[in-house]
Amino acid sequence: MKALVQDRYGSSEVLHLRDIDVPRVGENDVLLRVHAAALHMGDWHLMTGLPYLVRLGFGLRGPKIAVRGMDVAGRVEAVGKGVTEFQPGDEVFGVCDGALAEYACARKDKLLRKPSNLTFEQAAAVPTSASTALQALRDSGGLQPGQKVLIIGAGGGVGLFAVQLARALGAHVTGVCSTTKVDWVRSLGADDVIDYTRQDFTALAQRYDLILDTAGNRPLSLLRRALTPQGTLVLVGGEEGGRWFGGNERQLQALALSPFVSHKLRGLLALARKEDLAFLKELIEAGKLMPVIDKTFPLREGREAVHYLEGGRTRGKVVVTNDVAAAS
Ligand SMILES: NC(=O)c1ccc[n+]([C@@H]2O[C@H](COP(=O)([O-])OP(=O)(O)OC[C@H]3O[C@@H](n4cnc5c(N)ncnc54)[C@H](OP(=O)(O)O)[C@@H]3O)[C@@H](O)[C@H]2O)c1
Repeated sequence: MKALVQDRYGSSEVLHLRDIDVPRVGENDVLLRVHAAALHMGDWHLMTGLPYLVRLGFGLRGPKIAVRGMDVAGRVEAVGKGVTEFQPGDEVFGVCDGALAEYACARKDKLLRKPSNLTFEQAAAVPTSASTALQALRDSGGLQPGQKVLIIGAGGGVGLFAVQLARALGAHVTGVCSTTKVDWVRSLGADDVIDYTRQDFTALAQRYDLILDTAGNRPLSLLRRALTPQGTLVLVGGEEGGRWFGGNERQLQALALSPFVSHKLRGLLALARKEDLAFLKELIEAGKLMPVIDKTFPLREGREAVHYLEGGRTRGKVVVTNDVAAAS
């Protein structure tokens, strides 16, 4: 099968379309015929091996898993002996290893049947970014109906889901994004939108019960100024940088400071959980949550897709479709 393979860490130049073996199906695995894979910053971290801490888990000299891509949607091709809940032909979505390929293997507990109202491309765009938004708002943030939430990076892959989810959970939502995304973020359901190129929200009078920070590198002291006295700050991500910590220094500071202040300051390590995927699927089928795709690339141009993501200015998710069979 064709797959986008890397032998060493580096920029998108290290990715090459090559013929490799179809993955072997383990007892609790599902082999998928990939229809679409969606990219996120986690793919970039594994491709570059940055920050270096990534390499401790994923391979010191080069990535142990050579094919990138985690978020996937496709048709079940085969199942392991221990899999009873899926059968060949089922349309599924979820998280796997090596989604940038014609076939990929996923653990049965990382997959679900595809939402009936989504295409494969849309379904692939959901798992990691939407789960991250959900876990940040509901689990780390403890969001309650009626609360005021500020989403920094509302125009990003995580942010676009966070805006919709916060609304669905009954919050009053303010999104922070750049000028060209203001109307779009409002159309996602934000009650208010702040253009960070024109206004500094930390200098305004408004206070928020919950701030979700997915972008930029604002110091904790500034972010805390915008919180209510008992408010919660969840640091999801931000400006990438620093070869060792990758810009996660603020998460470490938050951990150290939180016990000594009235605010709850939290980092986040999002996990792929089937029950969260099921929750998201329900909202999607109820019309309360929709993925947004910025651009779709064929697998043959997967390298360009990663390069496009690296630019950091997407308006929705970047999706790679499996075009190889059709073209060969
Ligand atoms: N903790 C976890 O488990 C976890 C899970 C997933 C992702 N993450 C991290 O979360 C972060 C966001 O991921 P993503 O997929 O949403 O990335 P993304 O799609 O690149 O979105 C980030 C957005 O931030 C906006 N932005 C850039 N500078 C900004 C600033 N100074 N203030 C406000 N907004 C700004 C950009 O939009 P504009 O055009 O509006 O500037 C961009 O669209 C990344 O750092 C990622 O690594 C963490």
